Amino acid sequence: MCGIVGYTGKRPAQGILIQGLTRLEYRGYDSAGIAVQEGDSLAVIHRKGKVASLEHTLSHFDFQGTCGVGHTRWATHGKPSEANAHPHTSCGGHIAVVHNGIIENFAELREELEGRGHVFTSETDTEVVAHLLEEAYQGDLVAALRDACSRIVGAYGLAAVCDMEPGVIAVTRKDSPIVIGQGEDGAYVASDMIAMIDATRDVVILGDGEYARMTASGIEYTDEAGCAIEPRITHVDWDLDLAEKGGYPDFMLKEIHEQPRVIRDTLAGRLVNGALSIDELDLTPEELNLIDRVYVIACGTSYHAGLIAKNLIEGWARIPTECEVASEFRYRNPIITPTTLVVAVSQSGETADTLAAIRDARVKGARVFGITNVVGSPVARESDGVIYTKANKEIAVASTKSFLGQVVSLTLLAMLLAQAKGKLRMNQIRLLFRELADTAEQVERILAECKPSIEEAARACKDARNALFIGRGMGAAISYEGALKLKEISYLHAEAYPAGEMKHGPIALIDEGFPVIAIATKSPVYDKVVSNLQESKARGAMIVAVATEGDEDIKQHADHVIYIPKVRDAFSAITASVPLQLFARAIAIERGCDVDQPRNLAKSVTVE
Ligand code: AGP
Repeated sequence: MCGIVGYTGKRPAQGILIQGLTRLEYRGYDSAGIAVQEGDSLAVIHRKGKVASLEHTLSHFDFQGTCGVGHTRWATHGKPSEANAHPHTSCGGHIAVVHNGIIENFAELREELEGRGHVFTSETDTEVVAHLLEEAYQGDLVAALRDACSRIVGAYGLAAVCDMEPGVIAVTRKDSPIVIGQGEDGAYVASDMIAMIDATRDVVILGDGEYARMTASGIEYTDEAGCAIEPRITHVDWDLDLAEKGGYPDFMLKEIHEQPRVIRDTLAGRLVNGALSIDELDLTPEELNLIDRVYVIACGTSYHAGLIAKNLIEGWARIPTECEVASEFRYRNPIITPTTLVVAVSQSGETADTLAAIRDARVKGARVFGITNVVGSPVARESDGVIYTKANKEIAVASTKSFLGQVVSLTLLAMLLAQAKGKLRMNQIRLLFRELADTAEQVERILAECKPSIEEAARACKDARNALFIGRGMGAAISYEGALKLKEISYLHAEAYPAGEMKHGPIALIDEGFPVIAIATKSPVYDKVVSNLQESKARGAMIVAVATEGDEDIKQHADHVIYIPKVRDAFSAITASVPLQLFARAIAIERGCDVDQPRNLAKSVTVE
């Protein structure tokens, strides 16, 4: 949550900072600001609202300074307002700082600093850092930052500038991402390398407790004690197109359309000599065979991918599997033994609750595998093994392609466990793998053919106040994701229920025209789902059914049918979730919502 950027080099910083902030807006977008070294002082401008509003204000200034920092905010401490927008400055205005994270002991530090005469102008936790820097500053901004960080408790990515050190940016981090890159025209820092993708693809992912002194002529890296360290360069193979909409009206639609590619890339190289191989897990087949309990831990959409994995791991590998919301798992006392496998799923690799759950599980002796989309992210670093989903950068706040990448990766993991346990024979693995690979083409067909039926259903539902998503088995897991997509981008209240639970309560909600979206694809529980949707229909519900092509009977029970290609039930999440993504987007567009940046949300949830 929150994105920070910085640049020092030969070019005016203003435009570079704005471009970086625009690319980081997925991390938060309630206010934004920059601080630029202009002449011998700092010019600091902030605005409530999106980066575009800051950009508009800055068009009246046109600063020429070549060193500065910027921030786009998702409010934690203090409401979204101009005063609470970063950068925050010291009393004299000589130092400005941007921060991503939470300073947990800010209240006591603030009291202490106010006691010594510091005047605060915001309600944020971050402002204490500016005042601590002011007290510690003796001509070396990095040394002052090291001193300030010795006082603060919490998570932080910090970048600071000082008008007494022209051309210098001081940077550090703990539990919040910081990426640094050296371009031809200067040095860049950001919360995510997407901000600097047109300047360099060779970046340093700063480690916890490491510091950087960035200048136009180079970057020095030091550790907590101030000793020089060798930076580890990571090359990221990203295309500049990732930062652009590529002709689509929004990133969400672009990312939905990338899903066939995600499936293919995630599967590439996984079947070696007819056997499944996930070398990154670094476990022998014998060690895999010993696993006797699996927990999948995650939040939000990633949790829904975990619900699908539970069905697959239990169904194929016959290993008892629980899928748990990370924020619950971390505060329980789950049964963990050395043969327990914990699978942590996180697109961003930064989610605070998932990270805390990983740490807790490892302390208790579990082996932890991470499934993440971000190379070098905290989830990747803190897990014993990691599978990278091949979604590439996801910018829309609502996860789509990363969800599919997670589902495919978890499907592979379930097959691998079944292979190791001898529950699936090699010829079965090969057949499953082939069918899994075929889903890429089936998703392509859905994208090409389903638009009219999805848009018709969306128009019928757009004015509803509530909606229910129902399904059984795999369909129940898919329903949860469908409901989440709809509520997060259209603000229409939606809940998901296993269809069999309807008559235990939720059916009381149904009245004339109430939308019920049913996952009614051909599966072992198809007839049961049809009975459940008949019960809703009998009470006036408007039924939207996601059904298997060729199923003419379903038309008797549903008002709107979205047909998708027939796949094995185990792979139905891959195909059935795509029309639900498009359905949610179509309703959000009908309702005039910003599908890429829904209110109150941010892409990376780095706070508890
Ligand atoms: C998905 O559309 C949401 N934006 C959200 O639920 C997300 O999946 C959740 O915050 C978990 O994020 P992660 O995968 O980065 O850990």
